Amino acid sequence: MPRPDLSPEPGTLDPIEIASRDEIAALQLARLKKTLAHAYENVPHYRAAFDAAGVRPEDCRSLADLAKFPMTSKADLRATYPFGLFAVPRADLARIHASSGTTGKPTVVGYTRGDLAVWAALVARSIRAAGGRPGMMLHNAYGYGLFTGGLGLHAGAERLDLVVVPVSGGMTERQVQLIADFGPDIITVTPSYMLAILDEFRRQGRDPRGSTLKIGIFGAEPWSEAMRAEIEEAFDIHAVDIYGLSEVMGPGVASECVETKDGLHLWEDHFYPEIVDPETGQVLADGAQGELVLTSLTKEAMPVIRYRTRDLTRLLPGTARTLRRMERIAGRSDDMIILRGVNVFPSQIEEILLRSPFLAGHYQIELTREGRLDAMAVHVEALPEAWGTPTLADEDTALAGHIKETIGITTNVRIVAPGSIERSLGKARRVIDRRG
Ligand code: DLL
Repeated sequence: MPRPDLSPEPGTLDPIEIASRDEIAALQLARLKKTLAHAYENVPHYRAAFDAAGVRPEDCRSLADLAKFPMTSKADLRATYPFGLFAVPRADLARIHASSGTTGKPTVVGYTRGDLAVWAALVARSIRAAGGRPGMMLHNAYGYGLFTGGLGLHAGAERLDLVVVPVSGGMTERQVQLIADFGPDIITVTPSYMLAILDEFRRQGRDPRGSTLKIGIFGAEPWSEAMRAEIEEAFDIHAVDIYGLSEVMGPGVASECVETKDGLHLWEDHFYPEIVDPETGQVLADGAQGELVLTSLTKEAMPVIRYRTRDLTRLLPGTARTLRRMERIAGRSDDMIILRGVNVFPSQIEEILLRSPFLAGHYQIELTREGRLDAMAVHVEALPEAWGTPTLADEDTALAGHIKETIGITTNVRIVAPGSIERSLGKARRVIDRRG
């Protein structure tokens, strides 16, 4: 049975989503000029950085001129902790979020009421692109709190007149109970936690394909096409990708359209994207892979100028919308593993593991050092029905062979018992580095 066609009804899109490229560029340039002036006038960090680079906001006469302006990094947020990049007085703020960060201080971000309204509108646009419609019920399992996922999706769902169930992450048994009892149409959650929910459906003896869910909106961590296929098949839903980061706003910077599922349309009326060479910072042409750099075009409380996301992707022309797309994120440059000279992302390993009919999507990569050489072990869980059966006998060597052929690295694949890999309630930890 084909899944329902959720293409948008005529007239329901924001006009800018399908405006001409000239209209989009004109809006971007007008907003960019305002943003540069706002940052320069109100944030000492930007004033100093622009002055040091010898540029003034008035030097931006075309979108290409943005390349003359200095980039901003996470280190700049840390150095100005907590509120140094804010461009409005404290009385004008409406909300603070923060990302935990693995080391040291969190990065703190702020929003005015206007920023929150734009954010909600963009998340509403993202949910609608995924096939969401007013009146549908949305089960929100992204974490609530300082993380932008929970409250970000929540406000967008309300804005689109959905019924929101604010479950947050965790208590997996209860997640499944509530899905069964309430009958939601949409689930919003990290893809890795969706797999934990899938396990729990099976543990409770419920058929995941029989749930009321029609759409899953997954993001906050890298995932692969193979994972999409796995989740869509297991739950009989449409699975679409949503991207964002707290420094730039939160979820809803870019989102996939359910009618094409071909990468994420960037909400370019509010964010100007560039792709740069991660080494040199040189701006690359559309189509080339590199680091995504984002400039906010309408943010009041914390404008960001050329923020280096560390996320690697490519810019592609629009399809379902005239706004440009970005390819599914390959990974963060910080998460790229360099093994004996070969660059590899966890999502590439995931793509291969999930081709096996005997394995679950729960996996972890362990890096160790043997003598002077780095070694990589891939731990992956068997599906419960395959565990302990002869079908698994040669699967580990077969997988190591596929990885070698496809990516060109030697790995030690270990198939482990169902449930033995650590579950996360939000973003999964895919790599454990024991190289010291
Ligand atoms: O993860 C915001 C978010 C919440 C996005 C819910 C989507 C859904 P941060 O905690 O600041 O914000 O983490 C941002 O997560 O730079 C990427 O590395 C990664 N990321 C986010 N979405 C995706 C995605 C939220 N769809 C960082 N695919 C980003 C791959 C993603 N990576």
